[in-house]
Amino acid sequence: MEIVVSGIRPTGNLHLGNYFGAVKNFLRMQKEFNCYFFIADYHSLTTHPTPVNLHDNVRQVLAEYLASGLDPEAATIYVQSDLPEVAELTLLMNMNSYLGELERTTSFKDKARKHPDNVNAGLLTYPVLMASDIIIHQATKVPVGKDQEQNLEMTRKFASRFNRIYNTEYFTIPQSFNYGEALVKIPGLDGSGKMGKSEGNGIFLVDDEESIRKKVMKAVTDSGPTEPNSMMPEAIRNLFTLMEVVSTPDTVTYFTDKYNSCEIRYGDLKKQLAEDIIKFNAPIREKILAIRSDEAYLRKVVNMGKEKAHISASKTLREVREIIGFKPF
Ligand code: TYM
Repeated sequence: MEIVVSGIRPTGNLHLGNYFGAVKNFLRMQKEFNCYFFIADYHSLTTHPTPVNLHDNVRQVLAEYLASGLDPEAATIYVQSDLPEVAELTLLMNMNSYLGELERTTSFKDKARKHPDNVNAGLLTYPVLMASDIIIHQATKVPVGKDQEQNLEMTRKFASRFNRIYNTEYFTIPQSFNYGEALVKIPGLDGSGKMGKSEGNGIFLVDDEESIRKKVMKAVTDSGPTEPNSMMPEAIRNLFTLMEVVSTPDTVTYFTDKYNSCEIRYGDLKKQLAEDIIKFNAPIREKILAIRSDEAYLRKVVNMGKEKAHISASKTLREVREIIGFKPF
């Protein structure tokens, strides 16, 4: 059985782009593979959250992923810091990770450039912790978006290096994984690019009705087509792409026809889009709010995940210690 590991940073709320990207894939993977999904709270310490923020953020992402359909019976869902084995494995892996290669990582260079006052060692060794997250369960597959490919490459390098140094084939070398079909790329509302956490162009699953209406009504449009059947500019194409994922096919056809005959009124299109997003979000949003305040349920999920994750993590760590040469007296 393929073993899948994926980490979720506890920063920011889930938006529609995440939902139709990573989350959809997670929901499919949990049915097909032995999945470990964890909230990467150790990783988040590189930005120094306050104790209250740290806990609230973990609880929020956990509630959002559970509300979106991550199933604690099907997958192992846990909090990274509940698995101290991963911290010990990171310490061991750090001994064979080199300053030069860590400094050359794109995400490290980016962060160092953006926050020159906070170039901490945790940031530098982020790929080692990430590698440990993955190899501690002997993952065979890791689902990755584009920005994580280099980190996964580092994981493969560290795992192979360990195997070479100790003359073993102990660690499985994980492959990056994506379902073959192209995912719909969910655009932002600002006329270009994709929906993102930090771009300020996102619609979040927890957004209430009023803020969804406001955001959609503010979306960038133009003065409308003047020639029948003309090419759609990107901003308009984006609104249709959103409509394709949340509205009925009839609605999409109706507005496409209006566009093609130059009779489109963007105000009407946006009103319809906003209502359809609201309808799509409503059941998930209700679940998020319910789960977030259900202490007993959250505790149960997290404890169950911790127990399951501990089984494979402690086995790996015991074996790694043996391979390295730690012996009991
Ligand atoms: P982040 O927060 O950017 O993304 C969360 C997880 O979702 C994966 N992902 C996708 N998977 C499938 N299809 C997509 N379209 C898609 N888009 C994003 C990401 O690769 C990630 O797994 N550094 C990581 C967090 C992390 C991690 C790990 C990930 C820490 N340890 C171990 C994997 C394994 C990050 O910033 O992910």
